[in-house]
Formats: sequence, C-alpha cells, structure tokens
Amino acid sequence: MLQQKTAQFMAAVLGMFIIATAQVHAQDAAKAPKLANVTILATGGTIAGSGASSTTTVGYTAATVGVQQLIKAVPELSKVANVNGEQVFQIASESMTNDHWLTLAKRVNTLLAQNTVDGIVITHGTDTLEETAYFLNLVVKSRKPVVLVGAMRPSTALSADGPINLYNAVLLAADPSAAGKGVLVAMGDQIHGARDVSKTNTSTPDAFKTTELGMLGYIQGGKPFFYRVSTRKHTADAEFDVSNLTSLPQVDIVYGYANMNTVALDAFVAAGAKGIIHAGTGDGSVAAKVKPGLIAARKGGTIIVRASRVGQGILARNGEANDDELDFVVSDTLSPQKARILLMLALTKTNNTKELQRMFYNY
Ligand code: SIN
Repeated sequence: MLQQKTAQFMAAVLGMFIIATAQVHAQDAAKAPKLANVTILATGGTIAGSGASSTTTVGYTAATVGVQQLIKAVPELSKVANVNGEQVFQIASESMTNDHWLTLAKRVNTLLAQNTVDGIVITHGTDTLEETAYFLNLVVKSRKPVVLVGAMRPSTALSADGPINLYNAVLLAADPSAAGKGVLVAMGDQIHGARDVSKTNTSTPDAFKTTELGMLGYIQGGKPFFYRVSTRKHTADAEFDVSNLTSLPQVDIVYGYANMNTVALDAFVAAGAKGIIHAGTGDGSVAAKVKPGLIAARKGGTIIVRASRVGQGILARNGEANDDELDFVVSDTLSPQKARILLMLALTKTNNTKELQRMFYNY
C-alpha cells in the first residue's frame, strides 16, 4: 500500500516536472528572436570551384559544386537564418550574359515579393560579380537585402575563403540593417556597395575594394557594422523595370590605348551597337584617329558614352571633348563595364541624350 502511494506521488511529481519544463521551453522559444528566411541563389564561380589538390589556388575548375553542398559545408548558417538554396546557373562568371542577368533579376524580384523571403544571397564568380551586382542594384524592386558573394579560392583549397564569405553574406542578408542600402557585396569581412566596388587583383583573397569612394562597412563577430551608404539611386527607387524584357540593347566597350584605331568601333557599329562606351585614356580622352569614327557613329544614331580606363575619378563633361556639341554622354565615375550596364537599361527607356546624362548623374 505504502509502495503504491509512493509510486503515485513520484508519478505526480514527474508529471509536474515535465509540464514545467515544457512551459519553460515554450517561453524560451517565444523569447528567442525569429530567424530570417534567406534564399541562396547559386550561379557558379570559384566559390563553387574545385581543384586537383588542396594547394591548387589557380588553374582549378570553377562552378562544379552544387548549392546544397555549399550550404552543407557551412552548418553554422542554420544559426543565423533559415536557409534555402536554389541552383540558378552553374557557370564561370566570365560567361555571364544579359540573358542570365534578366533571368536572375526576375527570380530575385519574384522571391522578394514573397512574405516568406526576407533576404537573398547570390553566390557568383568574382570576375563579373561587380557587374551583376550593379545590374541588380538598378532593377531589383525591393528594399530587402540582396547580397552577392564569391571566393577567390576554390572550395577544395587550403584556407578557402568561400565558407566564411558565405556565412558573412547570409548573416548580412538576414540583418535588418542591410535593408534599403542597395545591392551589397560581402567579401573578406567587408561590405561593399554594388555601384562602386570592383575586383582589383587577379588572384589574392583581398581582391575586392571600393578604392576611393570607400566600402560601406565590416562584418565582425557575427554582426554587420555600417559606416556609410551610397547617395546614388538604386533598387526600389530606380526607374528601370525588367519584368517584361526578354533582351537588352547591344552596348559594347571600345578600349583606349596608344596607337588606337577604329577597327573595333567600326565593327561594333556595323554589328548594330545601340551604344558605345568609349573607355578612353585619362579623363576619357579620344585619340585624334578615333574621334571622326565616334562622331560618325553618333550621327548614325549610336549613343556614345565617354568613360575612362583609369579606374578612379569623375569624367568631366565638356573636358577632353565638347560633349554638348558632339551630343556625347559622360559616365560620371562609373567604370566602363558598369557604364555599359547603365546605358543598356537607360536605352530601354529613352534615346534622348539629356535624359541619358541625367541617369548617369543619378545612378
Ligand atoms: C569566375 O568568375 O567564375 C571565376 C573566378 C572566380 O570566381 O574567382
């Protein structure tokens, strides 16, 4: 009898303990911050690359590892976000095309329109990462974070930078402080803005820099720290819309150099270029031998944008050429490869050179 009573008492105590523990867990869960939902769109590149050995850091094959494997390699991701992966492409980024950009932008806009997606990370080859970032900066219709990330070393290398870069990118995309700042690039513990960042080294891990205008911040101790923002229009405030576009106007880049000739310019124009970015020497200077070709191209309807191959500085309007008289546009501080992107999108709206110049001063 006594034994039966003791057993009943013990069962009651145990029951109370289980109920109390469950209540504590429920309270903890209610108190714990809800993790953001981040979708990783994988496009290939060195971050998904593999080499013959752990010391192969050049001469490896880009774009071989799938998105699920990339996520699996960083189990820590599950602590900073609810992560979901999609393989959009599997290419080395030198092969990125306008069609890839349109597909990617449409997918990003579709995902960001959903309440269940709080941010997007795009894994990308580093060669054209800055171009895709700027394209998206102009056409994403959302203030939610979009973060591009790559790696300078393949996933199989000693001290590969992909896993930590991916971790940083996901925690950045999951952080409310990244919202409304335009498309971001997370590389090497640093946060860069899409408009001004560029790859500055062929192979070292610290290749990404926003040289003179400055990066936006750092990622340290699992937290983003912002110190500046770009003043140029982007994403939800931009006037470009790719939702109904299936192609972009042909815009090509003519590179300036000593002893330059018009062979490339003439070929691009003959091939139907709607716009030419002249990546001139210095402040966008045009060689005497090339100027008549540019003037003839403009008279034929092709838009001419003077940019510079130098990499830094403002391209002075009416400086090295009389742009008002020649009806040329200048690139402001955009690199030739980014000027090409803005001109393609701008040409989907207008051919008016005053309007085009306004866009170059606004984006
Ligand atoms: C690429 O851009 O796909 C190759 C180079 C890299 O990702 O670093």
